[in-house]
Amino acid sequence: KKCTAIVLAAGQGRRMGTKVRKQYVLLEGRPILYYSLHVFDLSPYIDEIVLVVGKGEEEYCRKEIVEKYGIQKVRRIIPGGAERYHSVWKGLSEIEGEGYVFVHDGARPFVDTAMIERAYEAVCVCKACVVGMPVKDTIKLADEEEFVKETPKREFVWLVQTPQVFDAALLKEAYELLSHKTHIQVTDDAMVVEQMLQYPVKLVCGSYENIKITTPEDLEVAKVFLSRKPLTQ
Ligand code: CTP
Ligand code: MG
Repeated sequence: KKCTAIVLAAGQGRRMGTKVRKQYVLLEGRPILYYSLHVFDLSPYIDEIVLVVGKGEEEYCRKEIVEKYGIQKVRRIIPGGAERYHSVWKGLSEIEGEGYVFVHDGARPFVDTAMIERAYEAVCVCKACVVGMPVKDTIKLADEEEFVKETPKREFVWLVQTPQVFDAALLKEAYELLSHKTHIQVTDDAMVVEQMLQYPVKLVCGSYENIKITTPEDLEVAKVFLSRKPLTQ
């Protein structure tokens, strides 16, 4: 089946607070967004990429990232929306026919081809999967007064990452149902599938390096990760 990666880069990067939006900040001379595009470009499982960027940044991204670094599989560059789920929704509307969709944060430069392969294997069986890692710290659930309500068993707690991978029709159906709802806080794609369709989502091993560049100290960590990696995988 056809596999499309929707790479999201339409966020404001408020928590990073850099003058240049975080997806365009340079690491080892290349924009953060370049790294994940390159990995999807390399992966034999990925047929095409839909790149979702800030309104008005389409041409910049085409010239300064896609063409400059020779990314081959980008089929469309489209403007995103106000929230992440709006951007995903717009990306999904570009996908025709049946297949699988890999939703990925452009702010996660350390996705790798092995992880894409693991997710592909899982989605073929389960139709819905997300990459993530078991937590290292103990997690507490808090109540409104910031008292501990519960301590879930650590082996059952995962931090989820992207790519989040779905049968395209399934994800479209879930987002379609979401578009009729209000007052739902959506922070990832899996929860749309979980809550709108009650469909089981499989957890797949990502990597502890697959961080989302969110706050300034993440840039420091990212530099260390990059310094021990060859530029092409
Ligand atoms: N994203 C998007 N469209 C939005 C919001 C987010 O495409 N309206 C993308 C971001 O570009 C990022 C990914 O979703 O690649 C994860 O979002 P996040 O880390 O929250 O990035 P920002 O929203 O840019 O950062 P912040 O929340 O700090 O403003
Ligand atoms: Mg955000």
